[in-house]
Amino acid sequence: MFLGLDLGTSGVKALLVDGEGRAIGSADASYDVSNPAQGWSEQDPSDWVAGVKAALGALKSAHPKAFGAIQGLALSGHMHGAVLVDAAGDVLRPCILWNDTRSHAQAATMDSDPRARAISGNIVFPGFTAPKLAWIAENEPEVFARVSRVMLPKDYVVWWLTGRFATEMSDAAGTAWLDVGTRTWSDDLLALGGMDAAQMPDLLEGTDVVGQVQPARADLGLPKTCKVIAGGADNAVAACGVGALSEGQGFVSLGTSGVVLTGRDSYAPLADSAVHTFCHAVPGRWYQMGVVLAATDSLNWLSKITGQSATALSSALGDTLAAPGAVKFYPYLSGERTPHNDAAVRGSFTGLDVATDASTLTSAVMAGVAFALRDSFEAIKATGATFDTALAIGGGSQSDYWTEMLATVLNIPLERPDESAFGAALGAARIAMCGVTRANPTEVMTKPPVANIIHPQTNLVQAYEDAYAGFASAYPTLKAMP
Ligand code: XUL
Repeated sequence: MFLGLDLGTSGVKALLVDGEGRAIGSADASYDVSNPAQGWSEQDPSDWVAGVKAALGALKSAHPKAFGAIQGLALSGHMHGAVLVDAAGDVLRPCILWNDTRSHAQAATMDSDPRARAISGNIVFPGFTAPKLAWIAENEPEVFARVSRVMLPKDYVVWWLTGRFATEMSDAAGTAWLDVGTRTWSDDLLALGGMDAAQMPDLLEGTDVVGQVQPARADLGLPKTCKVIAGGADNAVAACGVGALSEGQGFVSLGTSGVVLTGRDSYAPLADSAVHTFCHAVPGRWYQMGVVLAATDSLNWLSKITGQSATALSSALGDTLAAPGAVKFYPYLSGERTPHNDAAVRGSFTGLDVATDASTLTSAVMAGVAFALRDSFEAIKATGATFDTALAIGGGSQSDYWTEMLATVLNIPLERPDESAFGAALGAARIAMCGVTRANPTEVMTKPPVANIIHPQTNLVQAYEDAYAGFASAYPTLKAMP
Protein backbone atom coordinates (compact mmCIF):
# COMPACT_ATOMS: atom_id res chain seq x y z
CA MET A 1 0.00 0.00 0.00
CA PHE A 2 1.09 3.55 -0.75
CA LEU A 3 -0.18 6.86 0.51
CA GLY A 4 -0.35 10.16 -1.38
CA LEU A 5 -1.03 13.38 0.50
CA ASP A 6 -1.96 16.45 -1.47
CA LEU A 7 -1.40 19.55 0.64
CA GLY A 8 -3.58 22.04 -1.23
CA THR A 9 -4.39 25.68 -0.55
CA SER A 10 -7.83 24.95 0.86
CA GLY A 11 -7.27 21.53 2.37
CA VAL A 12 -5.39 18.26 2.37
CA LYS A 13 -6.41 15.07 0.62
CA ALA A 14 -5.05 11.65 1.60
CA LEU A 15 -5.30 8.82 -0.93
CA LEU A 16 -4.46 5.21 -0.26
CA VAL A 17 -3.58 3.04 -3.28
CA ASP A 18 -2.58 -0.58 -3.65
CA GLY A 19 0.51 -1.90 -5.43
CA GLU A 20 -1.28 -1.60 -8.79
CA GLY A 21 -2.03 2.08 -8.13
CA ARG A 22 -5.75 1.41 -7.59
CA ALA A 23 -7.54 3.69 -5.12
CA ILE A 24 -8.48 1.97 -1.85
CA GLY A 25 -9.81 4.97 0.02
CA SER A 26 -9.42 8.68 0.56
CA ALA A 27 -10.08 11.32 3.20
CA ASP A 28 -10.00 15.11 3.26
CA ALA A 29 -9.60 17.86 5.79
CA SER A 30 -9.89 21.57 5.12
CA TYR A 31 -8.24 24.69 6.52
CA ASP A 32 -8.42 28.41 5.92
CA VAL A 33 -6.37 31.06 4.17
CA SER A 34 -6.12 34.41 5.91
CA ASN A 35 -5.88 37.67 3.97
CA PRO A 36 -4.73 40.20 6.57
CA ALA A 37 -4.19 42.96 3.98
CA GLN A 38 -4.86 43.51 0.30
CA GLY A 39 -2.69 41.14 -1.75
CA TRP A 40 -1.62 39.19 1.35
CA SER A 41 -2.31 35.49 1.74
CA GLU A 42 -1.11 33.44 4.69
CA GLN A 43 -1.56 30.09 6.40
CA ASP A 44 -0.45 28.72 9.72
CA PRO A 45 1.71 25.60 9.25
CA SER A 46 0.11 24.07 12.36
CA ASP A 47 -3.18 24.00 10.40
CA TRP A 48 -1.54 21.72 7.80
CA VAL A 49 -0.37 19.39 10.53
CA ALA A 50 -3.86 19.33 12.05
CA GLY A 51 -5.32 18.65 8.58
CA VAL A 52 -2.88 15.81 7.91
CA LYS A 53 -3.65 14.26 11.32
CA ALA A 54 -7.41 14.50 10.68
CA ALA A 55 -7.20 13.04 7.16
CA LEU A 56 -4.91 10.20 8.26
CA GLY A 57 -7.12 9.48 11.28
CA ALA A 58 -10.20 9.20 9.03
CA LEU A 59 -8.37 6.97 6.55
CA LYS A 60 -7.10 4.72 9.32
CA SER A 61 -10.57 4.24 10.82
CA ALA A 62 -12.13 3.50 7.43
CA HIS A 63 -9.36 1.15 6.19
CA PRO A 64 -7.43 -0.14 9.23
CA LYS A 65 -5.88 -3.15 7.49
CA ALA A 66 -4.71 -1.31 4.37
CA PHE A 67 -3.47 1.61 6.51
CA GLY A 68 -1.34 -0.77 8.55
CA ALA A 69 0.28 -2.03 5.34
CA ILE A 70 1.50 1.35 4.01
CA GLN A 71 5.06 0.94 2.73
CA GLY A 72 5.64 4.53 1.71
CA LEU A 73 4.06 7.95 1.52
CA ALA A 74 4.78 11.14 -0.39
CA LEU A 75 3.41 14.65 -0.37
CA SER A 76 2.42 17.02 -3.08
CA GLY A 77 2.25 20.64 -1.95
CA HIS A 78 1.25 24.11 -3.01
CA MET A 79 4.41 25.84 -4.13
CA HIS A 80 6.53 28.87 -3.26
CA GLY A 81 5.34 29.40 0.34
CA ALA A 82 7.94 30.52 2.86
CA VAL A 83 7.89 28.61 6.14
CA LEU A 84 10.48 30.15 8.43
CA VAL A 85 11.79 28.42 11.52
CA ASP A 86 14.33 29.44 14.12
CA ALA A 87 17.24 27.37 15.42
CA ALA A 88 14.89 25.50 17.81
CA GLY A 89 12.59 24.56 14.91
CA ASP A 90 9.82 26.93 15.99
CA VAL A 91 7.79 28.61 13.25
CA LEU A 92 8.57 32.35 13.24
CA ARG A 93 5.49 33.72 11.45
CA PRO A 94 2.58 32.48 9.30
CA CYS A 95 3.59 31.06 5.94
CA ILE A 96 3.34 33.62 3.12
CA LEU A 97 1.60 31.74 0.30
CA TRP A 98 2.11 31.41 -3.45
CA ASN A 99 -0.71 33.86 -4.26
CA ASP A 100 0.56 36.61 -1.97
CA THR A 101 1.82 39.58 -3.97
CA ARG A 102 3.21 41.84 -1.24
CA SER A 103 6.82 41.30 -2.35
CA HIS A 104 6.36 42.66 -5.88
CA ALA A 105 8.94 45.43 -5.41
CA GLN A 106 11.55 42.99 -4.05
CA ALA A 107 10.76 40.58 -6.90
CA ALA A 108 11.26 43.33 -9.50
CA THR A 109 14.61 44.26 -7.95
CA MET A 110 15.83 40.65 -7.98
CA ASP A 111 14.49 40.11 -11.48
CA SER A 112 16.39 43.14 -12.78
CA ASP A 113 19.68 41.34 -12.06
CA PRO A 114 20.41 39.48 -15.33
CA ARG A 115 21.67 36.45 -13.38
CA ALA A 116 18.20 35.77 -11.97
CA ARG A 117 16.51 34.75 -15.24
CA ALA A 118 19.73 33.29 -16.67
CA ILE A 119 20.30 30.89 -13.76
CA SER A 120 16.76 30.14 -12.56
CA GLY A 121 15.24 30.01 -16.07
CA ASN A 122 12.28 32.02 -14.81
CA ILE A 123 11.13 35.53 -14.06
CA VAL A 124 11.38 36.19 -10.33
CA PHE A 125 7.63 36.39 -9.68
CA PRO A 126 6.37 38.11 -6.52
CA GLY A 127 4.79 34.81 -5.45
CA PHE A 128 8.14 32.98 -5.46
CA THR A 129 9.99 32.30 -2.22
CA ALA A 130 13.14 34.43 -2.61
CA PRO A 131 11.42 37.85 -2.83
CA LYS A 132 9.32 36.92 0.21
CA LEU A 133 12.49 36.60 2.25
CA ALA A 134 13.67 39.94 0.89
CA TRP A 135 10.34 41.49 1.97
CA ILE A 136 10.79 40.03 5.44
CA ALA A 137 14.35 41.35 5.63
CA GLU A 138 13.03 44.85 4.89
CA ASN A 139 9.77 44.80 6.83
CA GLU A 140 10.28 42.33 9.66
CA PRO A 141 14.04 42.50 10.32
CA GLU A 142 13.64 40.94 13.78
CA VAL A 143 12.06 37.85 12.15
CA PHE A 144 14.64 37.74 9.35
CA ALA A 145 17.49 37.81 11.89
CA ARG A 146 16.09 34.65 13.53
CA VAL A 147 15.56 32.64 10.32
CA SER A 148 17.60 29.49 10.72
CA ARG A 149 15.82 27.44 8.04
CA VAL A 150 13.47 28.10 5.14
CA MET A 151 11.04 25.36 4.16
CA LEU A 152 8.43 24.94 1.47
CA PRO A 153 4.93 24.03 2.69
CA LYS A 154 4.95 20.28 2.04
CA ASP A 155 8.56 20.05 3.27
CA TYR A 156 7.42 21.40 6.62
CA VAL A 157 5.07 18.42 6.92
CA VAL A 158 7.86 16.08 5.75
CA TRP A 159 10.13 17.56 8.44
CA TRP A 160 7.38 17.13 11.04
CA LEU A 161 7.00 13.49 9.97
CA THR A 162 10.67 12.56 9.66
CA GLY A 163 12.72 15.17 11.52
CA ARG A 164 14.77 15.71 8.32
CA PHE A 165 15.11 19.07 6.66
CA ALA A 166 14.84 18.25 2.96
CA THR A 167 13.22 19.37 -0.26
CA GLU A 168 13.25 18.14 -3.83
CA MET A 169 13.85 19.65 -7.26
CA SER A 170 10.30 20.49 -8.33
CA ASP A 171 9.52 22.64 -5.29
CA ALA A 172 13.06 24.02 -5.06
CA ALA A 173 12.68 25.24 -8.67
CA GLY A 174 9.94 27.64 -7.53
CA THR A 175 12.09 29.44 -4.99
CA ALA A 176 14.24 31.50 -7.44
CA TRP A 177 17.30 30.15 -5.57
CA LEU A 178 17.80 27.08 -7.75
CA ASP A 179 19.88 26.65 -10.89
CA VAL A 180 17.05 24.85 -12.67
CA GLY A 181 19.20 23.49 -15.52
CA THR A 182 21.87 21.88 -13.30
CA ARG A 183 19.47 21.08 -10.41
CA THR A 184 21.67 22.65 -7.71
CA TRP A 185 21.27 25.56 -5.28
CA SER A 186 22.84 28.67 -6.82
CA ASP A 187 25.16 30.55 -4.49
CA ASP A 188 24.76 33.62 -6.72
CA LEU A 189 20.99 33.61 -6.45
CA LEU A 190 21.05 32.93 -2.71
CA ALA A 191 23.45 35.83 -2.20
CA LEU A 192 21.19 38.10 -4.25
CA GLY A 193 18.54 37.78 -1.53
CA GLY A 194 20.88 37.79 1.47
CA MET A 195 20.51 34.02 2.06
CA ASP A 196 23.07 31.27 2.28
CA ALA A 197 23.14 27.55 1.51
CA ALA A 198 23.17 26.61 5.22
CA GLN A 199 19.58 27.86 5.46
CA MET A 200 18.48 25.62 2.59
CA PRO A 201 17.15 22.08 2.92
CA ASP A 202 18.97 18.99 1.59
CA LEU A 203 18.19 18.82 -2.12
CA LEU A 204 16.79 15.46 -3.31
CA GLU A 205 14.96 14.17 -6.36
CA GLY A 206 11.19 13.70 -5.86
CA THR A 207 11.45 9.91 -5.83
CA ASP A 208 14.33 9.82 -3.28
CA VAL A 209 13.76 8.54 0.25
CA VAL A 210 13.80 11.26 2.93
CA GLY A 211 13.63 8.83 5.86
CA GLN A 212 11.16 7.04 8.07
CA VAL A 213 8.34 8.38 10.19
CA GLN A 214 10.00 9.44 13.45
CA PRO A 215 8.99 7.76 16.73
CA ALA A 216 7.46 11.05 17.95
CA ARG A 217 4.75 10.57 15.29
CA ALA A 218 3.91 7.00 16.31
CA ASP A 219 0.38 8.13 17.26
CA LEU A 220 -0.45 8.44 13.54
CA GLY A 221 -0.48 4.64 13.47
CA LEU A 222 1.66 4.37 10.33
CA PRO A 223 3.81 1.21 10.16
CA LYS A 224 7.30 1.71 11.66
CA THR A 225 8.83 0.69 8.34
CA CYS A 226 6.86 3.28 6.33
CA LYS A 227 9.23 5.36 4.21
CA VAL A 228 8.67 9.03 3.51
CA ILE A 229 9.55 9.90 -0.09
CA ALA A 230 10.46 13.48 -1.06
CA GLY A 231 7.35 14.09 -3.24
CA GLY A 232 6.89 17.21 -5.32
CA ALA A 233 5.27 20.52 -6.15
CA ASP A 234 1.55 20.29 -6.84
CA ASN A 235 1.65 20.83 -10.59
CA ALA A 236 4.59 18.48 -11.14
CA VAL A 237 2.87 15.83 -9.01
CA ALA A 238 -0.46 16.32 -10.77
CA ALA A 239 1.52 15.72 -13.99
CA CYS A 240 2.81 12.44 -12.46
CA GLY A 241 -0.83 11.59 -11.67
CA VAL A 242 -1.87 11.93 -15.32
CA GLY A 243 1.28 10.63 -16.99
CA ALA A 244 2.53 14.02 -18.23
CA LEU A 245 6.26 13.39 -17.96
CA SER A 246 7.46 13.96 -21.49
CA GLU A 247 7.18 16.07 -24.67
CA GLY A 248 3.60 16.52 -25.89
CA GLN A 249 2.08 15.11 -22.68
CA GLY A 250 0.15 17.93 -21.07
CA PHE A 251 -2.85 19.12 -19.15
CA VAL A 252 -4.99 22.14 -18.53
CA SER A 253 -6.09 22.54 -14.94
CA LEU A 254 -9.08 24.54 -13.76
CA GLY A 255 -8.08 24.62 -10.10
CA THR A 256 -7.88 27.51 -7.63
CA SER A 257 -5.20 28.74 -9.98
CA GLY A 258 -5.36 27.73 -13.63
CA VAL A 259 -2.47 25.92 -15.25
CA VAL A 260 -1.46 24.87 -18.74
CA LEU A 261 1.40 22.36 -18.43
CA THR A 262 3.54 20.13 -20.60
CA GLY A 263 6.38 17.72 -19.79
CA ARG A 264 9.83 18.37 -21.32
CA ASP A 265 12.71 15.95 -21.85
CA SER A 266 15.28 18.72 -21.65
CA TYR A 267 15.73 22.14 -20.15
CA ALA A 268 14.47 24.80 -22.60
CA PRO A 269 13.61 27.95 -20.65
CA LEU A 270 11.98 31.04 -22.14
CA ALA A 271 11.73 33.25 -19.08
CA ASP A 272 10.74 36.47 -20.87
CA SER A 273 7.41 34.93 -21.95
CA ALA A 274 6.48 34.48 -18.27
CA VAL A 275 6.27 30.73 -18.86
CA HIS A 276 7.55 28.77 -15.87
CA THR A 277 10.28 26.22 -16.55
CA PHE A 278 10.71 23.96 -13.52
CA CYS A 279 12.36 20.64 -12.67
CA HIS A 280 9.94 17.73 -12.75
CA ALA A 281 9.26 15.57 -9.70
CA VAL A 282 11.08 12.68 -11.40
CA PRO A 283 14.81 12.72 -12.17
CA GLY A 284 16.16 14.06 -15.47
CA ARG A 285 12.97 15.80 -16.63
CA TRP A 286 11.52 19.28 -16.59
CA TYR A 287 8.10 20.75 -17.30
CA GLN A 288 6.79 24.06 -18.51
CA MET A 289 3.61 25.79 -17.51
CA GLY A 290 1.68 28.99 -17.66
CA VAL A 291 -0.18 30.06 -14.52
CA VAL A 292 -3.44 31.99 -14.26
CA LEU A 293 -3.64 33.13 -10.65
CA ALA A 294 -7.44 33.11 -10.23
CA ALA A 295 -9.23 30.31 -12.12
CA THR A 296 -11.90 28.60 -9.99
CA ASP A 297 -11.01 31.31 -7.49
CA SER A 298 -12.77 33.73 -9.86
CA LEU A 299 -15.96 31.65 -9.88
CA ASN A 300 -15.73 31.18 -6.12
CA TRP A 301 -15.50 34.94 -5.75
CA LEU A 302 -18.67 35.34 -7.84
CA SER A 303 -20.30 32.65 -5.75
CA LYS A 304 -19.45 34.52 -2.56
CA ILE A 305 -20.87 37.84 -3.71
CA THR A 306 -24.02 36.37 -5.30
CA GLY A 307 -24.68 33.97 -2.41
CA GLN A 308 -25.09 31.08 -4.89
CA SER A 309 -22.81 28.04 -4.94
CA ALA A 310 -20.38 27.67 -7.84
CA THR A 311 -22.26 24.52 -8.87
CA ALA A 312 -25.61 26.36 -8.86
CA LEU A 313 -24.14 29.22 -10.90
CA SER A 314 -22.66 26.76 -13.36
CA SER A 315 -25.83 24.61 -13.67
CA ALA A 316 -27.94 27.70 -14.39
CA LEU A 317 -26.11 28.03 -17.72
CA GLY A 318 -27.72 24.84 -19.02
CA ASP A 319 -26.06 22.28 -21.29
CA THR A 320 -25.57 24.16 -24.53
CA LEU A 321 -22.54 26.38 -24.90
CA ALA A 322 -23.60 29.90 -25.89
CA ALA A 323 -21.61 32.36 -28.00
CA PRO A 324 -19.50 34.83 -25.99
CA GLY A 325 -21.64 37.72 -24.75
CA ALA A 326 -21.05 41.47 -24.51
CA VAL A 327 -20.12 41.29 -20.81
CA LYS A 328 -16.43 40.54 -20.37
CA PHE A 329 -14.50 39.53 -17.29
CA TYR A 330 -10.76 39.92 -16.72
CA PRO A 331 -9.74 37.45 -14.01
CA TYR A 332 -6.91 39.45 -12.47
CA LEU A 333 -8.32 39.30 -8.93
CA SER A 334 -4.84 38.63 -7.55
CA GLY A 335 -2.80 40.17 -10.40
CA GLU A 336 -1.51 37.82 -13.10
CA ARG A 337 1.51 35.62 -13.78
CA THR A 338 1.55 34.36 -17.38
CA PRO A 339 1.89 36.21 -19.70
CA HIS A 340 1.80 39.59 -17.91
CA ASN A 341 3.85 39.13 -14.75
CA ASP A 342 1.82 41.91 -13.17
CA ALA A 343 1.06 41.85 -9.46
CA ALA A 344 -0.67 45.24 -9.52
CA VAL A 345 -3.29 44.77 -12.24
CA ARG A 346 -6.77 43.99 -10.91
CA GLY A 347 -9.81 42.24 -12.33
CA SER A 348 -12.69 43.90 -14.10
CA PHE A 349 -16.09 43.43 -15.66
CA THR A 350 -16.88 45.45 -18.78
CA GLY A 351 -20.04 45.76 -20.85
CA LEU A 352 -22.44 45.60 -17.88
CA ASP A 353 -26.05 46.47 -18.68
CA VAL A 354 -29.24 46.87 -16.64
CA ALA A 355 -30.29 43.49 -18.05
CA THR A 356 -27.11 41.74 -16.83
CA ASP A 357 -28.01 38.89 -14.50
CA ALA A 358 -26.04 36.36 -12.46
CA SER A 359 -25.93 33.87 -15.37
CA THR A 360 -24.43 36.48 -17.68
CA LEU A 361 -21.78 37.19 -15.05
CA THR A 362 -21.10 33.46 -14.65
CA SER A 363 -20.50 32.84 -18.34
CA ALA A 364 -18.37 36.01 -18.52
CA VAL A 365 -16.25 34.77 -15.60
CA MET A 366 -15.82 31.33 -17.19
CA ALA A 367 -14.87 32.91 -20.53
CA GLY A 368 -12.41 35.33 -18.90
CA VAL A 369 -10.64 32.41 -17.20
CA ALA A 370 -10.64 30.41 -20.46
CA PHE A 371 -9.10 33.37 -22.32
CA ALA A 372 -6.45 33.78 -19.64
CA LEU A 373 -5.61 30.07 -20.06
CA ARG A 374 -5.40 30.65 -23.81
CA ASP A 375 -2.80 33.36 -23.09
CA SER A 376 -0.73 30.74 -21.24
CA PHE A 377 -1.30 28.17 -23.97
CA GLU A 378 0.05 30.59 -26.60
CA ALA A 379 3.07 31.46 -24.41
CA ILE A 380 3.97 27.77 -23.97
CA LYS A 381 3.60 27.07 -27.68
CA ALA A 382 6.10 29.89 -28.27
CA THR A 383 8.75 27.72 -26.51
CA GLY A 384 8.31 25.04 -29.20
CA ALA A 385 5.90 22.81 -27.28
CA THR A 386 2.98 21.25 -29.14
CA PHE A 387 -0.48 20.20 -27.95
CA ASP A 388 -2.69 18.05 -30.15
CA THR A 389 -4.89 17.31 -27.20
CA ALA A 390 -4.61 17.77 -23.44
CA LEU A 391 -6.18 16.36 -20.31
CA ALA A 392 -8.60 18.62 -18.46
CA ILE A 393 -8.23 18.37 -14.69
CA GLY A 394 -9.06 20.38 -11.56
CA GLY A 395 -12.39 21.13 -9.87
CA GLY A 396 -13.66 23.43 -12.65
CA SER A 397 -13.33 20.64 -15.23
CA GLN A 398 -16.27 18.88 -13.55
CA SER A 399 -18.41 21.50 -15.29
CA ASP A 400 -19.27 20.29 -18.82
CA TYR A 401 -20.13 23.83 -19.82
CA TRP A 402 -16.82 25.33 -18.72
CA THR A 403 -14.77 22.47 -20.20
CA GLU A 404 -16.53 22.75 -23.55
CA MET A 405 -15.96 26.49 -23.52
CA LEU A 406 -12.28 25.92 -22.77
CA ALA A 407 -11.94 23.33 -25.55
CA THR A 408 -13.53 25.86 -27.94
CA VAL A 409 -11.26 28.71 -26.80
CA LEU A 410 -8.12 26.54 -27.12
CA ASN A 411 -9.53 24.82 -30.21
CA ILE A 412 -8.27 21.39 -29.13
CA PRO A 413 -10.14 18.38 -27.74
CA LEU A 414 -9.86 18.05 -23.96
CA GLU A 415 -9.77 14.60 -22.40
CA ARG A 416 -11.32 14.18 -18.97
CA PRO A 417 -9.70 11.39 -17.00
CA ASP A 418 -11.74 8.91 -15.01
CA GLU A 419 -10.19 9.85 -11.72
CA SER A 420 -9.58 13.55 -12.20
CA ALA A 421 -10.49 14.08 -8.56
CA PHE A 422 -7.39 12.18 -7.50
CA GLY A 423 -4.91 14.36 -9.50
CA ALA A 424 -2.04 15.32 -7.28
CA ALA A 425 -2.90 12.84 -4.50
CA LEU A 426 -2.62 9.99 -7.01
CA GLY A 427 0.62 11.48 -8.38
CA ALA A 428 2.00 11.59 -4.83
CA ALA A 429 1.02 7.95 -4.21
CA ARG A 430 2.78 7.02 -7.47
CA ILE A 431 5.92 8.88 -6.36
CA ALA A 432 5.77 6.97 -3.07
CA MET A 433 5.54 3.72 -5.02
CA CYS A 434 8.53 4.60 -7.24
CA GLY A 435 10.49 5.72 -4.18
CA VAL A 436 9.94 2.47 -2.32
CA THR A 437 10.09 -0.04 -5.19
CA ARG A 438 12.56 1.89 -7.41
CA ALA A 439 10.21 1.19 -10.34
CA ASN A 440 10.75 3.26 -13.47
CA PRO A 441 8.45 6.33 -13.24
CA THR A 442 7.39 5.99 -16.89
CA GLU A 443 5.94 2.57 -16.08
CA VAL A 444 4.07 3.74 -12.99
CA MET A 445 3.03 7.25 -14.06
CA THR A 446 0.81 6.33 -16.96
CA LYS A 447 -2.07 8.27 -18.43
CA PRO A 448 -5.35 7.45 -16.67
CA PRO A 449 -8.27 6.02 -18.64
CA VAL A 450 -10.12 8.82 -20.41
CA ALA A 451 -13.76 9.06 -19.28
CA ASN A 452 -14.81 11.37 -22.08
CA ILE A 453 -13.42 13.72 -24.69
CA ILE A 454 -14.84 17.22 -24.86
CA HIS A 455 -14.52 18.62 -28.37
CA PRO A 456 -14.47 22.26 -29.39
CA GLN A 457 -17.88 23.54 -30.47
CA THR A 458 -16.80 24.10 -34.09
CA ASN A 459 -19.53 26.59 -34.96
CA LEU A 460 -18.42 28.82 -32.06
CA VAL A 461 -14.64 28.61 -32.51
CA GLN A 462 -14.46 31.80 -34.60
CA ALA A 463 -16.72 33.77 -32.23
CA TYR A 464 -14.53 32.78 -29.28
CA GLU A 465 -11.40 33.53 -31.33
CA ASP A 466 -12.70 37.08 -31.95
CA ALA A 467 -13.66 37.48 -28.30
CA TYR A 468 -10.18 36.27 -27.30
CA ALA A 469 -8.60 38.91 -29.54
CA GLY A 470 -10.67 41.52 -27.70
CA PHE A 471 -9.65 40.06 -24.33
CA ALA A 472 -5.96 40.07 -25.24
CA SER A 473 -6.05 43.67 -26.46
CA ALA A 474 -7.71 45.01 -23.27
CA TYR A 475 -4.78 44.35 -20.92
CA PRO A 476 -2.86 47.62 -21.55
CA THR A 477 -6.00 49.62 -20.70
CA LEU A 478 -6.60 47.64 -17.49
CA LYS A 479 -2.96 48.03 -16.55
CA ALA A 480 -3.16 51.79 -16.97
CA MET A 481 -6.24 52.09 -14.74
CA PRO A 482 -5.55 53.77 -11.39
C1 XUL B 1 2.55 27.47 -9.39
C2 XUL B 1 1.66 28.07 -8.38
C3 XUL B 1 0.40 27.41 -8.02
C4 XUL B 1 0.54 26.88 -6.62
C5 XUL B 1 -0.79 26.54 -5.98
O1 XUL B 1 3.64 28.24 -9.72
O2 XUL B 1 1.94 29.10 -7.81
O3 XUL B 1 0.02 26.45 -8.92
O4 XUL B 1 1.45 25.84 -6.59
O5 XUL B 1 -1.47 25.55 -6.55
